[in-house]
Amino acid sequence: MKKAYEVFVRPLLFALDPETAHQFTIAGLSAASNVGFALRTLNFFRPRTQPKRVFGLNFPNPIGLAAGLDKNGVALPAWNALGFGFIEIGTVTAKAQSGNPKPRIFRFSEQRALINRLGFNNDGADIIARRLKKLQDSGRWPEVPLGINIGKSMATPLTEAIGDYLYSFRVLREFADYIVLNVSSPNTPGLRELQSPGALSELLSAIRATNLITPKPIVVKIAPDLTTEELEQIVSICESNGVAAIIATNTTLDHWSIPTGRDEQGGLSGGPLREKSTTLVRRIAARSTIPVIASGGIMDGDSAR
Ligand SMILES: Cc1cc2nc3c(=O)[nH]c(=O)nc-3n(C[C@H](O)[C@H](O)[C@H](O)COP(=O)(O)O)c2cc1C
Repeated sequence: MKKAYEVFVRPLLFALDPETAHQFTIAGLSAASNVGFALRTLNFFRPRTQPKRVFGLNFPNPIGLAAGLDKNGVALPAWNALGFGFIEIGTVTAKAQSGNPKPRIFRFSEQRALINRLGFNNDGADIIARRLKKLQDSGRWPEVPLGINIGKSMATPLTEAIGDYLYSFRVLREFADYIVLNVSSPNTPGLRELQSPGALSELLSAIRATNLITPKPIVVKIAPDLTTEELEQIVSICESNGVAAIIATNTTLDHWSIPTGRDEQGGLSGGPLREKSTTLVRRIAARSTIPVIASGGIMDGDSAR
């Protein structure tokens, strides 16, 4: 099946510009999500189960879909049918926004990497909540845990970021098995400053105060470009605020792998990120029992292991 994908599907997608390939894939999977026969066909790819219980949730297998592919939550039944052990949608912002001007995704096939500066293009918390409610009512809700990743709207000043996160949190929490606070995307100016000890503590305590009735696990997604000292501080703050897990990591600003002259502004993901993100995963696991969701450069079974 992997061979069939490599021979027939990937060359087709790689012939398109990266964002068109993305939209084409999402449109196909979104359409498939409404058709029982299509979902049963996708089910064919489902891996064997390898269940794990982490932060109170049952994951049928440890490979999940990272944020950014299905930002608007339009294809949940298809991701479920394909066999992902969990699905993370978003980043969702309080206000709908179109993101940065195109082109804003760049493919580097030889490096097995992408650079993106999408800038949280998404339908906004209200529309996405309505879409999720409709899906719930349709009976096609996925069996696997759903994470909803939230971030700050571009138009909201950094000083008012907490209000923005709280808005999305209140609107979306009833649909989420866990909520991810994204404080690490490089494409929203100033967002990464929310990883600083003062700002992160403030954000976490505001979310905690709103997360009292049927509380949802809160997960923090961090950047790979942190110093050891910054990472230590973040882990301590997460521990003392009852954070359920840390996602390590988001995309990197370190573009060493891209040939000079071809570089683009944005966050780099894929193969060249693996070592950096895995170093952070190891550092967190060495000093804390907080669960880590690893993200960065998982290209095949070996790199996942
Ligand atoms: C096109 C694209 C869009 C992304 N959008 C988001 C996003 O909206 N929110 C987020 O937290 N991470 C986003 N990411 C980061 C991914 O979730 C992931 O953490 C990162 O790409 C590293 O994993 P990878 O090397 O397997 O791609 C995006 C990545 C890509 C390539």
